[in-house]
Amino acid sequence: MTTRILGIESSCDETAAAVVADGREILSSVVASQIAVHRKYGGVVPELASREHLREIVPVIREAMEQAGMKLEELAAIGVTQGPGLVGALLVGITYGKTLAQTLGKPLVAVNHLEGHVHAVFLEAHKAGRVPKLPAMCLIVSGGHTVLYEVKPDVTRAVEDGGLLHYRKIGQTRDDAAGEAYDKVAKLLALGYPGGPILDRLAAEKNGAAAPVKFGPTKMKGNRFDFSFSGLKTAVLYHLREHAEYSSEIQTRQEALARGERKFEQLLPLCSAQTLALVREFQNAVVRDLVERTMTAAEELNVESIFVSGGVAANSQLRSAFEGRAKSAGIELFFPSRALSTDNAAMIAAAAYSRFRAGLFADVSLNADPSLALA
Ligand code: KG4
Ligand code: ZN
Repeated sequence: MTTRILGIESSCDETAAAVVADGREILSSVVASQIAVHRKYGGVVPELASREHLREIVPVIREAMEQAGMKLEELAAIGVTQGPGLVGALLVGITYGKTLAQTLGKPLVAVNHLEGHVHAVFLEAHKAGRVPKLPAMCLIVSGGHTVLYEVKPDVTRAVEDGGLLHYRKIGQTRDDAAGEAYDKVAKLLALGYPGGPILDRLAAEKNGAAAPVKFGPTKMKGNRFDFSFSGLKTAVLYHLREHAEYSSEIQTRQEALARGERKFEQLLPLCSAQTLALVREFQNAVVRDLVERTMTAAEELNVESIFVSGGVAANSQLRSAFEGRAKSAGIELFFPSRALSTDNAAMIAAAAYSRFRAGLFADVSLNADPSLALA
């Protein structure tokens, strides 16, 4: 008898629902993204996010059930993101999940969004017939989070059979998340929103220009596995302020964006060689920092695997840098596909499965926790 769980995710700017069987088989996964709504503000606007979740939650869940070919009554449980995230956004999913669980008489399972990102790695590995060995060093890197966890099995039962995981926080950002730095730098350079995908492609453009400024490694006092990206963003800001030659191309790109011309092919011809070199230097600095701290922690703690999850895991240079380093260190590397590394509900349903098996149920008093900790 398979255990089919409906996962609901609404912590930030994606309304998502998915049905996952036995914590590993994705029967459906539906994501409604709000990028178009937040684009003109260059970041997620919490009030608008809540409003969009309200609009999307019913059709998204209905579609997830239809794609899975199931009736709500056939579900074993409802899993919903409790936090961390935006409180008004989280409440939409939680209220809907609670009501559904109550009406159907099914168990409700509260899921930590970050635990969902870890489970995205197991879902992807399962599709490829791989089983990640633990302990693992897991880097969760997105627009909202940059955090490093050591992941261990909690009990003898394998994760895919519903065993729980244990997390120990090794480091985290002290200011901006890495994806947030991408978005802010793209805003400074008038390259649209979200910034990550376009900066990633621009950084890969070959040209002979030398970096107009050098960004050295960020030194951290205290925990050396902590991250910091706001200094890098400020360094880009000062560099642009001090060099008047950027202003006319920034103006030109702003006008192009205002006309809706935000595609890579449209913006590339509007970037000077100097801008491309600046973007490359920015990306080098972010990738170097993420990879170095994660690899050092992985080697010192002698882990079997490295997991990289979250929206920034889509970065091509991050992936190839990790591949090179993990291979020479003899540590297995796991990156979910783009669909599973960005926010989705399949990862929430998968994380809910372990808690369901352990009998860890929530009740009607469940509330959103915007800063819910994983460890
Ligand atoms: O996980 P996600 O979809 O949403 C949350 O933030 O929770 O991540 C979105 C973030 C954005 O900041 C976006 O700029 C960044 O991930 N991102 C990337 C790339 N694709 C998305 N950053 C760097 N390189 C990319 N290819
Ligand atoms: Zn996320």
